[in-house]
Amino acid sequence: MRASPVFARLDGDRTSVVWMACGDALDCLYLGPPLAADEDLVALSNAASRGRHENQPDIPPTGGLLPDPRTGWRGPLLAEFAQDRAPVIPRWTGLKIETSPDRQTIGAGWRDEDLALTLSVSWTIGAGDVITTRTQFLNAEDRGLRATRCASLLLPLPRGFDHVTHFAGRWADDMRAERVRLTRAGLGWASRGGKPGFAGGDWLVFDDAGSGAQLGFHIAATGDHEVRIERNDDGDATLVAETPIPAPGASMFTTPDALIAWAPDPDTLTHAFHINARERLTRQYPNPPRERRVHFNTWEACAFDFDEARLMRLAEDAAAIGAERFVLDDGWFKGRSSDRAGLGDWTPDPVRFPNGLGPLIARVKALGMDFGLWVEPEMVSPDSDLYRAHPDWCLHEPGLPHPTERNQLVLDFTKPEVAAHIRECIARLLRENDIAYLKWDHNRRLFPAAPDRSQISQLHDIWFALRREFPATMIESCSSGGGRVDMAMLGPIERVWPSDNNDAIERVRIMREWSRFLPLEVLGNHVGPSPNPITGRRVGIDFRAKVAVFGHMGVEADPARMTDKERATLAAHIALYKEWRGVLHAGRLHHLAHADANVTGMIMVDGDTALALAAQTSFSPVFDAAPVRLAGLEPEARYRVTLPEPWPPRAKHSLANPDAWRDGLTLSGAALIGQGLSLPLTHPETAWLIALERLPA
Ligand code: GLA
Repeated sequence: MRASPVFARLDGDRTSVVWMACGDALDCLYLGPPLAADEDLVALSNAASRGRHENQPDIPPTGGLLPDPRTGWRGPLLAEFAQDRAPVIPRWTGLKIETSPDRQTIGAGWRDEDLALTLSVSWTIGAGDVITTRTQFLNAEDRGLRATRCASLLLPLPRGFDHVTHFAGRWADDMRAERVRLTRAGLGWASRGGKPGFAGGDWLVFDDAGSGAQLGFHIAATGDHEVRIERNDDGDATLVAETPIPAPGASMFTTPDALIAWAPDPDTLTHAFHINARERLTRQYPNPPRERRVHFNTWEACAFDFDEARLMRLAEDAAAIGAERFVLDDGWFKGRSSDRAGLGDWTPDPVRFPNGLGPLIARVKALGMDFGLWVEPEMVSPDSDLYRAHPDWCLHEPGLPHPTERNQLVLDFTKPEVAAHIRECIARLLRENDIAYLKWDHNRRLFPAAPDRSQISQLHDIWFALRREFPATMIESCSSGGGRVDMAMLGPIERVWPSDNNDAIERVRIMREWSRFLPLEVLGNHVGPSPNPITGRRVGIDFRAKVAVFGHMGVEADPARMTDKERATLAAHIALYKEWRGVLHAGRLHHLAHADANVTGMIMVDGDTALALAAQTSFSPVFDAAPVRLAGLEPEARYRVTLPEPWPPRAKHSLANPDAWRDGLTLSGAALIGQGLSLPLTHPETAWLIALERLPA
């Protein structure tokens, strides 16, 4: 006889989740828009039940959150086990379901009495209605049994989510979106370099073409992950997301978190992730979010080619255009005149800085800026004092060569003395120097021997410890650009570097994709040089500067190599950024659809004010581009609309009625959403900023 079902539910503002347990089987019966508080869950389950079809076991397999292969289930499993290398399939019984007193978490646990194993899963609904899932494994007695895999999430996808957008990436081409159908062939992504990589399976958006609903997914792992989607003959698709399990034989562990969020449309999904990210940024820290000061970063201005005098000059030029933070990137530490040496020796180079960093920092501060510094603490150069003293501190296989990437090796943080040493080096640097910001880089994969996840938990511990001891210092995560970005790091990490590609034509796409998940204040966005050192493309300063406003703005080009006019244009945009950052970094972001796929549009709406960007990256097939339709506005409200100057140099000549624009147009939200604004967007490298102010009713 079938056991009568037991239900557990989570209710957020916009999402309800219902779990249904029958005997020891657990399924996610519902994940979608809010259900009535008194919804008849038995009726809901009857409505979702499917009869037996041909070619099935006589009792059809249940699948669910912990599928049991004994029932005939042939899809993926949540966890797998082995004893003496032979697979063992536990008998999970005694299912217990609990709801936390705050009704934010539901959890389920099973035991296998004979093997003394316990497995539990929990789902917590948090900020933005984002649901955090994890799995816990406990091996109470050592009977030689070990987990060979254990997923953070196994999710039977709600029916209708037949397409998924995933993001492929490589260095300088991060987060390239691709939407594909979930076919029977299945899909899979894996990162095996010890970092998530430049995207691939760790951020996904499923969509239901019928209803427009979206289901966002993220695995917050900071390291390797494997994500798969399998579709079976019945038409069910299952998403499985996991990281390598801890050291073989670990008797207890908790997986990293996976995140899922249901939303009725793409903008709401973006907003959900942004709310969640903002909550993570402030969760453990009482202070309001920091103002995102304008960075001046030396990397694309001078790379390794500097001495103290050149930096002093750069600092003066940076201050003159309005920079608020002078960031000394790579090349400042002992022996680091190229990328062939120095990593691990975190003291100022005595040749470049005979008196330490003090004089430069004093000059930077006298110019009204604060000071930031680049570090890459998890790495060591073979040509360094640290390596000469401790050649065995890097990841290596005893007796075999130490293979490098970018001429560097990875420190083995699973050795407590190594992690402690590095933590102390960075703490000393922060104690001895007035440093407002650290760019924490990570420029190679982890090999030859893959460390277990304690490499990453040590790293997280160091970040948390530094944030506690140095609350005034902001830390950015960079990994040759966006090679290591995840939600778990937000908090101690307050900014990420989305890409090394500062070519604004590329950058506007990369920013649009990252901003589907992360709010603009977290995403560094710099004005690079022209020609761009990576793409070789020449891009005008107006376009470069407008694109950089939508993020945490910075400059990474030598102002002395710009014309007076270019410097003035850049300074004007820095001033605009300062005027608008309060809105850009607190508001709600909407991505704007445009008839021309090469026009990227975004609007940030914060209370009564909003700022939009419309950026054309290609040559329009028509002379007059379709109007830019806005979003996120109140249809009944009236807005004063202006186009903040400077205007794009070429396009401004084609703007109809410039005087009317200078005075500002008064339009209803309905007109702005429905008809939009006809702006010259014909030539590549044309961008407009659109400012809106809601008028009193
Ligand atoms: C990495 C970073 C760059 C820069 C260089 C310095 O490539 O992504 O932004 O800091 O290292 O070596």
